Amino acid sequence: MAYKIAVIKGDGIGPEIIDEAIKVLDAVSAKEGFDLDYKEYLLGGSAVDVFDNPCPDETIKGALNSDAVLFGAIGGPKWDTLPKEKRPETGLLKLRKSLGLFANLRPAIIFDELIDASTLKPEVIKGVDLEVVRELTGGIYFGEPRYKDDNKAYNTMIYSRDEIERIARVAFEEAQKRRKKVTSVDKANVLEVSELWREVVEEVAKEYPEVELEHMYVDNAAMQLVRDPKQFDVILTGNIFGDILSDEASMIVGSIGLLPSASIGGKVGLFEPIHGSAPDIAGQGIANPIATILSAAMMLDYLGENKGAKRIRKAIKEVLRDGYRTKDIANFGAKEVVTTSEMGSLIAEYASK
Ligand code: IPM
Ligand code: MG
Repeated sequence: MAYKIAVIKGDGIGPEIIDEAIKVLDAVSAKEGFDLDYKEYLLGGSAVDVFDNPCPDETIKGALNSDAVLFGAIGGPKWDTLPKEKRPETGLLKLRKSLGLFANLRPAIIFDELIDASTLKPEVIKGVDLEVVRELTGGIYFGEPRYKDDNKAYNTMIYSRDEIERIARVAFEEAQKRRKKVTSVDKANVLEVSELWREVVEEVAKEYPEVELEHMYVDNAAMQLVRDPKQFDVILTGNIFGDILSDEASMIVGSIGLLPSASIGGKVGLFEPIHGSAPDIAGQGIANPIATILSAAMMLDYLGENKGAKRIRKAIKEVLRDGYRTKDIANFGAKEVVTTSEMGSLIAEYASK
């Protein structure tokens, strides 16, 4: 079997971490007997530099013609002062929208070897296994009207019944494969859009009688996530709340360099670490490639290459068990601090065993 993979390295540390993910994918595909044909496309700042456009049509077409998209990260100070339509972030939002990627899955899994890397107490986080299911192509990120002048500015948080239904279904399907609990997060005590969210989620829940549903206001959810994260299985929420809560969830795990994500719902899935392009550390060989390598594992699951995905996850666990650490987690059980590229090579080697 040969899969077409659209590779978008992006900006900052994007190219370094994607190179390591490809190294690992190549090792695994050789072992499991499938092929990955990569084709590179530009997005974000690097696309602005070449095409004066943060999301060129060629990138959208290339992504749509592939079986999956592997994506690094975009953005950096060089492009921060550009007008909105040229900003790297605008490019990423346009790509997500063009590919119809309405569901963003962000699992937070604790590695026991790194239990001390979290700023939270070990007893609070040991055994945490939760997944944020974030709506990704609607809500306040995309709502019209939006407006800004010197004295006034606004955005609009809109959700239609259809949009809520389809993301709720993804969350319940995920919960069915997991511990069968959905916590739907909203602000229904203040926002009409959240009132509708709640009503529709309740309706969808009837299709999944074996899954427990609870509702939580977003402020409380932010608090509960650090108080007792083990109470959560699947967190279902809208675009902006999910953006915020998934960054918070990454700190439960100890480093933002560890969390992968999958964006699905359209014709092709897109797989990216939840962290950004970290321009301050780009090119120094200290970025942690694990989030991206875990994203590559999610991509293999999506392609149906589950054995390959398992190999990757097992290899990461073993490399951490054996004491190899990148700089961000160097203070937590390191026997040897390794570079980005050494970490990738180690995981590739372990995954080939
Ligand atoms: C994320 C990022 C993006 C988002 C930015 C870069 C537009 O923070 O993937 O979480 O807000 O969705
Ligand atoms: Mg974010």
